[in-house]
Amino acid sequence: MKILVIGAGNMGLTYAEGMSQAPIIGKRKIMIYDIMHETREAVAKNTNFEVFDKLENCLPKADIVFIGVKPFHCEDLFNEMKALTNPQQIIVSLMAGVRIEQIQNWLGVPKIIRTMPNLPAKVGKGVTSYTESDAVSRVELITVRSLLDTTGVSIHVNSENYIDASTGISGSGPAYIFYFMQSMLEAARKMGFSENDSKVLVSQTFEGAVALFNDDDSSPQTWMNRVASKGGTTRAALDSMEDNNVKELIKEAAFAAFDRAVEMGKENG
Ligand SMILES: NC(=O)c1ccc[n+]([C@@H]2O[C@H](COP(=O)([O-])OP(=O)(O)OC[C@H]3O[C@@H](n4cnc5c(N)ncnc54)[C@H](OP(=O)(O)O)[C@@H]3O)[C@@H](O)[C@H]2O)c1
Repeated sequence: MKILVIGAGNMGLTYAEGMSQAPIIGKRKIMIYDIMHETREAVAKNTNFEVFDKLENCLPKADIVFIGVKPFHCEDLFNEMKALTNPQQIIVSLMAGVRIEQIQNWLGVPKIIRTMPNLPAKVGKGVTSYTESDAVSRVELITVRSLLDTTGVSIHVNSENYIDASTGISGSGPAYIFYFMQSMLEAARKMGFSENDSKVLVSQTFEGAVALFNDDDSSPQTWMNRVASKGGTTRAALDSMEDNNVKELIKEAAFAAFDRAVEMGKENG
């Protein structure tokens, strides 16, 4: 099986690196195409991928094509791809807010898998949600899932609405966590901790809380109740957050990302 990744940026290269470890790939090299000469040179120098400077030399050979360009570049790319694709190829889109039907219309091919990846895929801790067009068979879906799983875990969803929704939770989500971390780091610095100690305090606190959360079935609310005793320090912090409506604001932020993903789908025609 031949795999082509178009767009050797953050996501494209992360998935290419993950997939190169997949048993079904074996010793075959993943093909990479990027529009930028400098990017192609860097990929050729630093990786074991087969790098192409022309779509016509790689796209017709591919069984599965991953699209890792920014959504606003996809129309140009699809115009270039159209004459080189065939109906047997599976197109896997990593792009936020570009709908399956749009890809089918632009490319004139039926088999599309739309995903929503996230950045921790870079360290094998990603979560990718995915859904497919009717023309994709069960076996093809299982094959693509095994590729997605090389970057972490994946969840199958039944409609594209959930792809846009997962943009608001997991796709954009790492940035919300970084926002929270940044606030905690700034508080630690203000309290007088060194930069390094602040970093250790904050990162270990996040890692520890996630490990506890994953350790049993307790909800975050249960954990909060366990650690926050009446009149204590944690309760003072949680009361301050509740008074400032932080939970509602975070939910609102997640919905803002979800809405933006839907809007982007409409903008793309
Ligand atoms: N980063 C995330 O956390 C994240 C999360 C979820 C989903 N996504 C999705 O993942 C996709 C890729 O994001 P990214 O952050 O990896 O983008 P990126 O780092 O900008 O990478 C995209 C690459 O594709 C190249 N490119 C642009 N037009 C091309 C064309 N016509 N043919 C071939 N290559 C082309 C770009 O070159 P130039 O630099 O010259 O433009 C760049 O090297 C996006 O659609 C985004 O919605 C990203």
